[in-house]
Amino acid sequence: MIRKTLVFISASLLCISPLPAQSASVDQRVESLIHQMTLEEKLGQLIQYTASQPDVRGLAAKGGVGCVFNSGGAAQTNALQRAAVEESRLKIPLLFAHDVIHGYRTIFPIPLGIASTWDPSAAELAARIAAKEASASGIRWTFAPMVDIARDPRWGRVAEGAGEDPYLGSAMAAAYVRGFQADSFLACAKHFAAYGAAEAGRDYNSVDMSERMLRQVYLPPFKAAVDAGVRTIMTGFDSLNAVPATANDHLLKEILRGEWNFRGFVDSDYHAIGQLIDHAVAATPQEAALKAIRAGVDMDMFDATYLTLAAAVREGRLSESVIDASVRRILRAKFDLGLFERPYADEQRERSVLLAKEHVDAARRIAQESIVVLRNQGALLPLSKNAGTIAVIGPLADSKADMLGSWYAFGKPEEAISVLEGIRAKTTQIAYAKGDDIAAAVTTAQKSDVVVLAVGEEGKMTGEASSRAFLDLPGNQQQLLEAIVATQRPVVLVVMSGRPLTISWAAANVPAIVWPWFPGSQGGHAIADILFGDVNPSGKLPITIPRSVGQIPIYYAHLPTGRPEDPAIKYTSKYIDSRNDPLYPFGYGLSYTRFEYSDLRVSGLTVSADVLNAGERDGDEIVQLYVRQLVASVSRPVKELKGFRRITLAAGEKRRVEFTITKNDLQFWLDHGWTVEPGTFKVWIGPNSVEGLEGTFEVK
Ligand code: GLC
Repeated sequence: MIRKTLVFISASLLCISPLPAQSASVDQRVESLIHQMTLEEKLGQLIQYTASQPDVRGLAAKGGVGCVFNSGGAAQTNALQRAAVEESRLKIPLLFAHDVIHGYRTIFPIPLGIASTWDPSAAELAARIAAKEASASGIRWTFAPMVDIARDPRWGRVAEGAGEDPYLGSAMAAAYVRGFQADSFLACAKHFAAYGAAEAGRDYNSVDMSERMLRQVYLPPFKAAVDAGVRTIMTGFDSLNAVPATANDHLLKEILRGEWNFRGFVDSDYHAIGQLIDHAVAATPQEAALKAIRAGVDMDMFDATYLTLAAAVREGRLSESVIDASVRRILRAKFDLGLFERPYADEQRERSVLLAKEHVDAARRIAQESIVVLRNQGALLPLSKNAGTIAVIGPLADSKADMLGSWYAFGKPEEAISVLEGIRAKTTQIAYAKGDDIAAAVTTAQKSDVVVLAVGEEGKMTGEASSRAFLDLPGNQQQLLEAIVATQRPVVLVVMSGRPLTISWAAANVPAIVWPWFPGSQGGHAIADILFGDVNPSGKLPITIPRSVGQIPIYYAHLPTGRPEDPAIKYTSKYIDSRNDPLYPFGYGLSYTRFEYSDLRVSGLTVSADVLNAGERDGDEIVQLYVRQLVASVSRPVKELKGFRRITLAAGEKRRVEFTITKNDLQFWLDHGWTVEPGTFKVWIGPNSVEGLEGTFEVK
């Protein structure tokens, strides 16, 4: 009893001044609060727990936790929030976070699919809707966008990003940040940095790369996110050049806060601070905590290693001012979100916002744009709605859950539209076979006029901790595919996946190949819209599709080498058992109409060309601009994307598309900084990274 009384007295004495009125500036309110906080309360703000961790409610009531993640729903978050706001001493509200990666309840295509739209406004809209739904459910911070460049499709997390290219990735990163943060919501650019370059495509594996590769390829999307005002950054699990990202002064202090002047806060990834021990750069939890907080990691996700800092401060090993700096950044974010004034979610509003019609319609439209048609031999597509009987076959043909891919937050599989349901909404002459019984599937195909074969990865095969050493169609799908093709019926192959797959046999033997990645809640409708031509496909690859795993890493913006491949000359850079070129290149995708490029003009740094829709159907074309510096102090890539534009052309319409190349587009990293060197440059305007009109320009 005594102890409680003492605690009460000390607490009431400490509470010497109430929170300043809202009129005081955020900084003044932050300072006033910090001066009242005990060391334990300060550390509490740096701790991030999942809602299911033991006694989160009790900790919140004592000011022992600052953020709760993996909880969602207005009622659920409000219950925890009351513990913090009504029971704790200083009533600092909790910040609720979740992995709202491609939708909260209305699920959009996976980010690799959204990247295939080459439409930043689509990314921005998807993020804005996701934030609106999440916010209505009490979530005010998402661990997105994931902006890791990935050039190794063995890595399961290529699904979560925007592919292999820093220019496209930067445009998408900025768009997601604008969308998520449009209305009192925090985004988080992750995983800082170079986590996507894990050796051998094996998740969590080491990363080793030159400063030049880091600066030119892996950092630009993070810089774009910071320039777009992203409020938080999450460190990666990886070690970069043997220094774990979660204790990396070069990344966090020199680059992020030093060069880029990032003023938000940095969150660790899940248990990544404690894992500094596994990285063998710390022997104890306290050493790990000291390394992380000194490097600039403000918040500790999941394992509360930061609680060991109390002793470090009391034993004089850490100045309390270091902790104050982190607390300040987190409190500022909470004030900026208005959490002190409006800490609760509105359950009534939640019901009206989730799955709102305009959200579902947007999910369908964005899914339509995200679908890439890779082959359409003999114009088999679009299918006619009275094309006789359509056999819909395959393990993914009637799977609703797999439409959502990975990281689908509070999306519900039962609310997703499968391929079969999408096709049923177009026509009734359908036969269905799952395909696990190949003979039965063959019979179904033989009785039909055309086959739509839906194959690929299950959603749970992609995302985190889902690296694959082989990229073939999983299970018995290849056998199923060959048996169906052997029936001589025309086959449309629909491949759903979270990454490129090595489908060389299909590319040579199947007339039509459609790649919707994982298209989200409205995926089945969007796929059917494309298959029947209600929508003209426009998606283009944001990542190279290899012929084999043996080619990996394979990407278009590679260096020329001293012996560029020459099939006629043995001693040049190539394989004795494979072609060098990919199965499908970066930027590639077909339309049901035909776009023709002509009349490239270069004037100074302005480059333009005519694009004609030479077909009978209106359509969207993603016009791409690539540049190459022919000679420089260091070897430069054979091509780099430096512009793209999505245009809509009516049948027969011609339009001139113009790009202006900037200094930023021509700079490269040399030793200790960016530079532009004079010289001759090649430039291309075209439909993808291997075709286009070529010109040259000089930089004096
Ligand atoms: C995971 C992921 C990260 C995610 C976090 C919270 O391990 O690496 O992307 O945001 O934990 O779920």
